[in-house]
Amino acid sequence: MTRHPLKTFIAAACALAFSGLASVASAQQSVEVLHWWTSGGEAAALNVLKGNLEKQGVKWNDMPVAGGGGEAAMTAVRARVTAGNPPTAVQLLGFDIQDWAKQGVLADLNAVAAKEGWDKVVPGALQAFSKYDGKWIAAPVNVHSTNWVWANKSVLDKAGVTTMPTNFDEFIAAAEKVQKAGFVALAHGGQPWQDATLFDSVVLSTGGIDFYKKVFIQKDKAALGSPTMLKAFDRMGQLRKLVDKDFSNRDWNLASAMVISGKAGFQMMGDWAKGEFVAAKKKPGVDFICMRFPGTQGMVSFNSDQFAMFKVGGDKAAAQAKMASAVMDPAFQSAFNVVKGSVPARTDVSDAAFDDCGKKGIKDLAEASGKGALVGSMAHGHAVPAGIKNAFYDVITRHFNGQIDSKAAVKEMVAAVDN
Ligand code: GAL
Repeated sequence: MTRHPLKTFIAAACALAFSGLASVASAQQSVEVLHWWTSGGEAAALNVLKGNLEKQGVKWNDMPVAGGGGEAAMTAVRARVTAGNPPTAVQLLGFDIQDWAKQGVLADLNAVAAKEGWDKVVPGALQAFSKYDGKWIAAPVNVHSTNWVWANKSVLDKAGVTTMPTNFDEFIAAAEKVQKAGFVALAHGGQPWQDATLFDSVVLSTGGIDFYKKVFIQKDKAALGSPTMLKAFDRMGQLRKLVDKDFSNRDWNLASAMVISGKAGFQMMGDWAKGEFVAAKKKPGVDFICMRFPGTQGMVSFNSDQFAMFKVGGDKAAAQAKMASAVMDPAFQSAFNVVKGSVPARTDVSDAAFDDCGKKGIKDLAEASGKGALVGSMAHGHAVPAGIKNAFYDVITRHFNGQIDSKAAVKEMVAAVDN
Protein backbone atom coordinates (compact mmCIF):
# COMPACT_ATOMS: atom_id res chain seq x y z
CA MET A 1 0.00 0.00 0.00
CA THR A 2 1.38 3.39 -0.97
CA ARG A 3 1.19 6.17 1.55
CA HIS A 4 -0.76 9.34 0.75
CA PRO A 5 1.70 12.24 0.21
CA LEU A 6 -0.23 14.38 2.73
CA LYS A 7 0.17 11.70 5.42
CA THR A 8 3.89 11.55 4.71
CA PHE A 9 4.08 15.31 5.03
CA ILE A 10 2.20 15.29 8.37
CA ALA A 11 4.41 12.50 9.73
CA ALA A 12 7.55 14.42 8.76
CA ALA A 13 6.18 17.62 10.28
CA CYS A 14 5.38 15.81 13.52
CA ALA A 15 8.84 14.29 13.66
CA LEU A 16 10.34 17.74 13.19
CA ALA A 17 8.15 19.21 15.90
CA PHE A 18 9.13 16.45 18.35
CA SER A 19 12.81 16.82 17.60
CA GLY A 20 12.33 20.54 18.23
CA LEU A 21 10.80 19.74 21.61
CA ALA A 22 13.65 17.40 22.38
CA SER A 23 16.21 20.06 21.68
CA VAL A 24 14.30 22.52 23.90
CA ALA A 25 14.40 19.88 26.66
CA SER A 26 18.10 19.23 26.23
CA ALA A 27 18.78 22.96 26.28
CA GLN A 28 17.31 23.09 29.79
CA GLN A 29 19.93 24.23 32.24
CA SER A 30 21.24 21.56 34.56
CA VAL A 31 23.84 20.97 37.22
CA GLU A 32 25.48 17.69 38.12
CA VAL A 33 26.31 17.63 41.81
CA LEU A 34 28.61 15.12 43.47
CA HIS A 35 28.20 14.78 47.25
CA TRP A 36 28.09 12.27 50.12
CA TRP A 37 24.86 13.39 51.74
CA THR A 38 22.87 10.16 51.83
CA SER A 39 21.64 9.91 55.45
CA GLY A 40 18.07 11.01 56.28
CA GLY A 41 19.03 14.42 57.65
CA GLU A 42 21.65 15.08 54.97
CA ALA A 43 19.33 14.20 52.09
CA ALA A 44 16.52 16.32 53.54
CA ALA A 45 18.85 19.31 53.73
CA LEU A 46 20.13 18.84 50.19
CA ASN A 47 16.55 18.70 48.93
CA VAL A 48 16.14 22.35 49.95
CA LEU A 49 18.83 23.35 47.46
CA LYS A 50 17.56 21.00 44.79
CA GLY A 51 14.04 22.45 45.15
CA ASN A 52 15.26 26.06 44.97
CA LEU A 53 17.19 25.38 41.78
CA GLU A 54 14.34 23.51 40.17
CA LYS A 55 12.10 26.52 40.85
CA GLN A 56 14.56 28.49 38.73
CA GLY A 57 14.35 25.93 35.94
CA VAL A 58 17.71 24.31 36.70
CA LYS A 59 17.57 20.52 36.58
CA TRP A 60 19.44 18.67 39.33
CA ASN A 61 21.47 15.62 38.29
CA ASP A 62 22.27 13.89 41.53
CA MET A 63 25.57 12.06 41.97
CA PRO A 64 25.59 10.72 45.54
CA VAL A 65 28.58 8.71 46.76
CA ALA A 66 27.70 7.26 50.18
CA GLY A 67 30.25 7.27 52.97
CA GLY A 68 30.41 9.65 55.95
CA GLY A 69 33.21 12.18 55.89
CA GLY A 70 33.46 11.86 52.11
CA GLU A 71 36.39 9.51 51.55
CA ALA A 72 34.62 7.41 48.90
CA ALA A 73 33.33 10.59 47.28
CA MET A 74 36.88 11.89 46.91
CA THR A 75 37.88 8.77 44.97
CA ALA A 76 34.92 9.33 42.63
CA VAL A 77 35.88 12.98 42.09
CA ARG A 78 39.44 12.02 41.18
CA ALA A 79 38.18 9.53 38.60
CA ARG A 80 35.88 12.10 36.98
CA VAL A 81 38.45 14.88 36.87
CA THR A 82 41.14 12.57 35.53
CA ALA A 83 38.78 11.48 32.77
CA GLY A 84 38.37 15.14 31.82
CA ASN A 85 34.67 15.10 32.73
CA PRO A 86 34.23 16.82 36.11
CA PRO A 87 30.78 17.32 37.66
CA THR A 88 29.45 20.90 37.78
CA ALA A 89 29.80 21.11 41.54
CA VAL A 90 31.39 18.92 44.19
CA GLN A 91 30.92 18.93 47.96
CA LEU A 92 34.44 19.44 49.31
CA LEU A 93 36.09 20.14 52.63
CA GLY A 94 38.92 22.53 53.51
CA PHE A 95 42.32 21.53 52.18
CA ASP A 96 40.78 19.36 49.46
CA ILE A 97 39.35 22.53 47.87
CA GLN A 98 42.77 24.13 47.84
CA ASP A 99 44.36 20.98 46.42
CA TRP A 100 41.97 21.01 43.44
CA ALA A 101 42.47 24.74 43.00
CA LYS A 102 46.23 24.16 42.72
CA GLN A 103 45.55 21.72 39.88
CA GLY A 104 43.87 24.54 37.95
CA VAL A 105 40.57 22.69 37.47
CA LEU A 106 38.24 24.96 39.46
CA ALA A 107 36.07 27.72 37.98
CA ASP A 108 36.40 31.41 38.78
CA LEU A 109 33.35 32.65 40.70
CA ASN A 110 34.58 36.21 41.19
CA ALA A 111 31.87 37.78 39.00
CA VAL A 112 28.97 36.41 41.05
CA ALA A 113 30.87 36.85 44.33
CA ALA A 114 31.55 40.52 43.60
CA LYS A 115 27.97 41.18 42.47
CA GLU A 116 26.60 39.64 45.68
CA GLY A 117 29.26 40.94 48.07
CA TRP A 118 30.45 37.56 49.42
CA ASP A 119 33.67 39.11 50.71
CA LYS A 120 31.75 41.10 53.30
CA VAL A 121 29.56 38.31 54.71
CA VAL A 122 31.71 35.15 54.71
CA PRO A 123 34.06 34.87 57.72
CA GLY A 124 37.79 34.94 57.00
CA ALA A 125 38.27 31.42 58.42
CA LEU A 126 36.06 30.10 55.60
CA GLN A 127 37.38 32.39 52.88
CA ALA A 128 40.80 30.86 53.53
CA PHE A 129 39.41 27.72 51.88
CA SER A 130 36.87 29.21 49.43
CA LYS A 131 39.41 31.42 47.64
CA TYR A 132 42.61 30.64 45.82
CA ASP A 133 44.95 33.17 44.33
CA GLY A 134 42.39 35.93 44.94
CA LYS A 135 39.59 34.05 43.18
CA TRP A 136 36.43 32.57 44.70
CA ILE A 137 36.38 28.90 43.65
CA ALA A 138 33.79 27.47 46.05
CA ALA A 139 30.54 28.53 47.72
CA PRO A 140 30.36 27.65 51.45
CA VAL A 141 27.00 26.18 52.40
CA ASN A 142 27.44 25.83 56.17
CA VAL A 143 29.66 25.73 59.22
CA HIS A 144 29.61 22.47 61.16
CA SER A 145 31.54 21.80 64.30
CA THR A 146 32.92 18.56 65.60
CA ASN A 147 33.14 19.11 69.37
CA TRP A 148 29.58 18.19 70.32
CA VAL A 149 27.96 15.42 72.35
CA TRP A 150 24.39 14.23 71.71
CA ALA A 151 22.47 12.53 74.49
CA ASN A 152 19.12 10.79 74.90
CA LYS A 153 17.35 12.60 77.73
CA SER A 154 15.21 9.74 78.98
CA VAL A 155 18.19 7.35 79.00
CA LEU A 156 20.13 9.81 81.15
CA ASP A 157 17.11 10.20 83.47
CA LYS A 158 16.80 6.43 83.85
CA ALA A 159 20.53 6.13 84.54
CA GLY A 160 20.37 8.87 87.17
CA VAL A 161 22.58 11.32 85.28
CA THR A 162 21.07 14.58 86.49
CA THR A 163 23.84 17.12 85.84
CA MET A 164 25.65 17.37 82.55
CA PRO A 165 29.38 16.60 82.66
CA THR A 166 31.62 19.65 82.25
CA ASN A 167 34.98 17.91 82.05
CA PHE A 168 36.33 14.62 80.76
CA ASP A 169 36.37 12.78 84.08
CA GLU A 170 32.78 13.78 84.81
CA PHE A 171 31.85 12.49 81.37
CA ILE A 172 33.40 9.09 82.08
CA ALA A 173 31.52 8.91 85.39
CA ALA A 174 28.21 9.77 83.69
CA ALA A 175 28.82 7.29 80.87
CA GLU A 176 29.61 4.53 83.35
CA LYS A 177 26.28 5.17 85.06
CA VAL A 178 24.55 4.80 81.68
CA GLN A 179 26.43 1.55 81.06
CA LYS A 180 25.49 0.18 84.50
CA ALA A 181 21.83 0.98 83.82
CA GLY A 182 21.96 -1.44 80.88
CA PHE A 183 22.38 0.93 77.93
CA VAL A 184 25.21 1.34 75.45
CA ALA A 185 27.12 4.30 76.93
CA LEU A 186 28.71 5.60 73.74
CA ALA A 187 27.18 5.00 70.31
CA HIS A 188 30.11 4.97 67.92
CA GLY A 189 31.01 3.71 64.49
CA GLY A 190 34.53 2.33 64.14
CA GLN A 191 35.54 4.06 60.92
CA PRO A 192 38.79 6.04 60.75
CA TRP A 193 37.08 9.41 60.20
CA GLN A 194 34.75 8.80 63.17
CA ASP A 195 37.63 7.77 65.44
CA ALA A 196 39.42 10.95 64.34
CA THR A 197 36.30 13.01 65.09
CA LEU A 198 36.48 11.80 68.71
CA PHE A 199 40.18 12.58 68.74
CA ASP A 200 39.62 16.22 67.65
CA SER A 201 37.55 16.76 70.79
CA VAL A 202 39.71 14.69 73.13
CA VAL A 203 42.79 16.71 72.14
CA LEU A 204 40.91 20.00 72.63
CA SER A 205 39.60 18.87 76.00
CA THR A 206 42.94 17.51 77.18
CA GLY A 207 45.31 20.22 76.00
CA GLY A 208 43.13 23.27 75.41
CA ILE A 209 42.99 25.57 72.40
CA ASP A 210 46.69 26.50 72.23
CA PHE A 211 47.76 22.88 72.42
CA TYR A 212 45.32 21.96 69.64
CA LYS A 213 46.78 24.72 67.47
CA LYS A 214 50.31 23.52 68.17
CA VAL A 215 49.68 19.90 67.25
CA PHE A 216 47.19 20.17 64.42
CA ILE A 217 47.73 23.59 62.85
CA GLN A 218 51.45 24.17 63.43
CA LYS A 219 52.34 20.44 63.42
CA ASP A 220 54.77 21.14 66.27
CA LYS A 221 56.69 17.94 66.86
CA ALA A 222 57.47 18.67 70.51
CA ALA A 223 53.74 19.05 71.21
CA LEU A 224 52.87 16.00 69.12
CA GLY A 225 55.33 13.93 71.15
CA SER A 226 54.37 15.42 74.53
CA PRO A 227 52.87 13.86 77.69
CA THR A 228 49.64 15.76 76.90
CA MET A 229 49.34 13.82 73.65
CA LEU A 230 50.00 10.60 75.58
CA LYS A 231 47.15 11.53 77.93
CA ALA A 232 44.86 12.20 74.95
CA PHE A 233 45.53 8.69 73.62
CA ASP A 234 44.95 7.20 77.08
CA ARG A 235 41.60 8.98 77.14
CA MET A 236 40.74 7.46 73.75
CA GLY A 237 41.35 4.13 75.47
CA GLN A 238 38.84 5.10 78.17
CA LEU A 239 36.23 5.94 75.50
CA ARG A 240 36.91 2.61 73.77
CA LYS A 241 35.58 0.86 76.89
CA LEU A 242 32.23 2.66 76.52
CA VAL A 243 31.30 1.40 73.04
CA ASP A 244 29.35 -1.78 72.28
CA LYS A 245 30.82 -4.90 70.70
CA ASP A 246 29.30 -4.21 67.27
CA PHE A 247 30.88 -0.78 66.80
CA SER A 248 33.28 -1.77 64.01
CA ASN A 249 32.53 -0.05 60.71
CA ARG A 250 29.09 1.14 61.82
CA ASP A 251 27.88 4.21 59.88
CA TRP A 252 27.65 7.40 61.94
CA ASN A 253 23.92 7.83 61.31
CA LEU A 254 23.24 4.33 62.68
CA ALA A 255 25.11 5.38 65.81
CA SER A 256 22.87 8.49 65.97
CA ALA A 257 19.86 6.19 65.58
CA MET A 258 20.97 4.24 68.68
CA VAL A 259 20.77 7.45 70.72
CA ILE A 260 17.51 8.53 69.08
CA SER A 261 15.83 5.18 69.80
CA GLY A 262 17.01 5.02 73.41
CA LYS A 263 19.44 2.16 72.97
CA ALA A 264 22.45 4.33 73.80
CA GLY A 265 23.10 7.33 76.01
CA PHE A 266 25.66 9.44 74.14
CA GLN A 267 27.21 10.05 70.74
CA MET A 268 30.26 12.27 70.24
CA MET A 269 29.79 13.65 66.76
CA GLY A 270 29.66 16.82 64.69
CA ASP A 271 26.35 18.63 64.51
CA TRP A 272 25.28 16.82 61.33
CA ALA A 273 24.06 14.30 63.96
CA LYS A 274 21.41 16.84 64.90
CA GLY A 275 20.07 16.55 61.37
CA GLU A 276 19.16 12.94 62.21
CA PHE A 277 17.36 13.97 65.41
CA VAL A 278 15.46 16.64 63.49
CA ALA A 279 14.55 14.18 60.73
CA ALA A 280 13.20 11.85 63.46
CA LYS A 281 11.08 14.77 64.80
CA LYS A 282 12.94 14.87 68.12
CA LYS A 283 13.08 18.09 70.14
CA PRO A 284 16.19 19.49 71.83
CA GLY A 285 15.82 19.80 75.60
CA VAL A 286 12.85 17.43 75.52
CA ASP A 287 14.01 14.27 73.74
CA PHE A 288 17.70 14.96 73.36
CA ILE A 289 20.43 17.15 74.76
CA CYS A 290 23.24 18.86 72.87
CA MET A 291 26.33 19.89 74.75
CA ARG A 292 29.86 20.83 73.93
CA PHE A 293 32.31 17.97 74.42
CA PRO A 294 33.10 18.21 78.16
CA GLY A 295 36.13 20.41 78.68
CA THR A 296 35.80 22.23 75.35
CA GLN A 297 33.22 24.84 76.33
CA GLY A 298 34.04 28.14 74.61
CA MET A 299 36.06 26.41 71.88
CA VAL A 300 34.86 25.42 68.42
CA SER A 301 36.55 23.00 66.01
CA PHE A 302 34.85 23.69 62.71
CA ASN A 303 34.46 22.35 59.22
CA SER A 304 32.58 23.90 56.36
CA ASP A 305 30.96 22.06 53.47
CA GLN A 306 31.55 23.98 50.29
CA PHE A 307 30.42 23.43 46.74
CA ALA A 308 33.56 23.73 44.70
CA MET A 309 32.73 24.59 41.09
CA PHE A 310 34.74 22.81 38.43
CA LYS A 311 35.61 24.32 35.05
CA VAL A 312 32.81 23.20 32.76
CA GLY A 313 31.90 24.03 29.14
CA GLY A 314 30.19 27.33 28.33
CA ASP A 315 26.67 25.88 28.13
CA LYS A 316 26.92 24.66 31.72
CA ALA A 317 28.51 27.76 33.18
CA ALA A 318 25.26 29.73 33.47
CA ALA A 319 23.59 27.00 35.53
CA GLN A 320 26.73 26.76 37.63
CA ALA A 321 26.59 30.48 38.43
CA LYS A 322 22.91 30.10 39.37
CA MET A 323 23.82 27.29 41.74
CA ALA A 324 26.60 29.32 43.37
CA SER A 325 24.17 32.18 43.88
CA ALA A 326 21.46 29.84 45.25
CA VAL A 327 23.94 28.42 47.80
CA MET A 328 24.81 31.90 49.05
CA ASP A 329 21.23 33.14 49.26
CA PRO A 330 20.59 34.19 52.90
CA ALA A 331 17.09 32.66 53.06
CA PHE A 332 18.48 29.38 51.73
CA GLN A 333 21.34 29.44 54.25
CA SER A 334 18.78 29.60 57.04
CA ALA A 335 16.40 26.97 55.64
CA PHE A 336 19.18 24.51 54.74
CA ASN A 337 21.12 24.73 57.99
CA VAL A 338 18.01 24.38 60.17
CA VAL A 339 17.58 20.94 58.60
CA LYS A 340 21.27 20.00 58.33
CA GLY A 341 22.21 20.72 61.96
CA SER A 342 24.91 23.19 60.95
CA VAL A 343 24.92 26.99 61.06
CA PRO A 344 25.04 29.52 58.21
CA ALA A 345 28.28 30.30 56.42
CA ARG A 346 27.22 33.95 56.27
CA THR A 347 27.43 36.19 59.32
CA ASP A 348 24.30 38.17 58.37
CA VAL A 349 21.70 35.38 58.70
CA SER A 350 19.25 35.61 61.62
CA ASP A 351 19.12 32.77 64.15
CA ALA A 352 15.32 33.13 64.48
CA ALA A 353 14.41 29.92 62.64
CA PHE A 354 16.94 27.75 64.53
CA ASP A 355 16.22 25.51 67.53
CA ASP A 356 18.12 25.94 70.80
CA CYS A 357 21.08 23.80 69.68
CA GLY A 358 21.32 25.80 66.45
CA LYS A 359 21.14 29.10 68.32
CA LYS A 360 23.89 27.92 70.64
CA GLY A 361 25.94 26.84 67.61
CA ILE A 362 25.66 30.29 66.03
CA LYS A 363 26.52 32.06 69.30
CA ASP A 364 29.43 29.71 70.13
CA LEU A 365 30.90 30.23 66.66
CA ALA A 366 30.81 34.02 66.89
CA GLU A 367 32.27 34.02 70.41
CA ALA A 368 35.01 31.49 69.66
CA SER A 369 35.95 33.38 66.53
CA GLY A 370 36.20 36.65 68.50
CA LYS A 371 38.61 35.23 71.07
CA GLY A 372 40.89 33.05 68.94
CA ALA A 373 39.19 29.81 70.03
CA LEU A 374 37.94 28.78 66.58
CA VAL A 375 40.10 26.08 64.99
CA GLY A 376 39.81 23.94 61.88
CA SER A 377 38.84 20.31 62.47
CA MET A 378 41.70 17.91 61.81
CA ALA A 379 39.28 15.02 61.27
CA HIS A 380 37.33 16.96 58.63
CA GLY A 381 40.14 18.34 56.54
CA HIS A 382 40.42 21.84 57.97
CA ALA A 383 43.72 21.60 59.86
CA VAL A 384 46.18 19.64 57.70
CA PRO A 385 46.19 18.49 54.05
CA ALA A 386 44.86 15.04 53.14
CA GLY A 387 48.27 13.32 53.20
CA ILE A 388 48.98 14.12 56.86
CA LYS A 389 45.32 13.76 57.84
CA ASN A 390 45.22 10.21 56.50
CA ALA A 391 48.48 9.35 58.28
CA PHE A 392 46.97 10.67 61.54
CA TYR A 393 43.75 8.67 60.89
CA ASP A 394 45.79 5.52 60.54
CA VAL A 395 47.53 5.96 63.91
CA ILE A 396 44.34 6.98 65.75
CA THR A 397 42.36 4.03 64.40
CA ARG A 398 45.02 1.41 65.08
CA HIS A 399 45.29 2.74 68.62
CA PHE A 400 41.51 2.74 69.09
CA ASN A 401 41.41 -0.89 67.99
CA GLY A 402 44.15 -1.89 70.41
CA GLN A 403 46.78 -2.59 67.75
CA ILE A 404 49.27 -0.12 69.26
CA ASP A 405 49.55 1.38 72.75
CA SER A 406 49.49 5.09 73.59
CA LYS A 407 53.28 5.41 73.69
CA ALA A 408 53.66 3.96 70.20
CA ALA A 409 50.78 6.11 68.94
CA VAL A 410 52.48 9.31 70.13
CA LYS A 411 55.71 8.32 68.36
CA GLU A 412 53.81 7.54 65.17
CA MET A 413 52.00 10.89 65.23
CA VAL A 414 55.39 12.62 65.19
CA ALA A 415 56.57 10.35 62.39
CA ALA A 416 53.39 11.03 60.40
CA VAL A 417 54.37 14.71 60.16
CA ASP A 418 57.96 13.84 59.19
CA ASN A 419 56.86 11.61 56.36
C1 GAL B 1 31.25 15.80 57.27
C2 GAL B 1 30.44 16.82 56.53
C3 GAL B 1 29.04 16.84 57.04
C4 GAL B 1 28.46 15.46 57.15
C5 GAL B 1 29.43 14.44 57.74
C6 GAL B 1 28.95 13.01 57.70
O1 GAL B 1 32.55 15.76 56.78
O2 GAL B 1 31.01 18.08 56.71
O3 GAL B 1 28.25 17.66 56.22
O4 GAL B 1 28.01 15.08 55.93
O5 GAL B 1 30.66 14.52 57.10
O6 GAL B 1 28.72 12.55 56.43
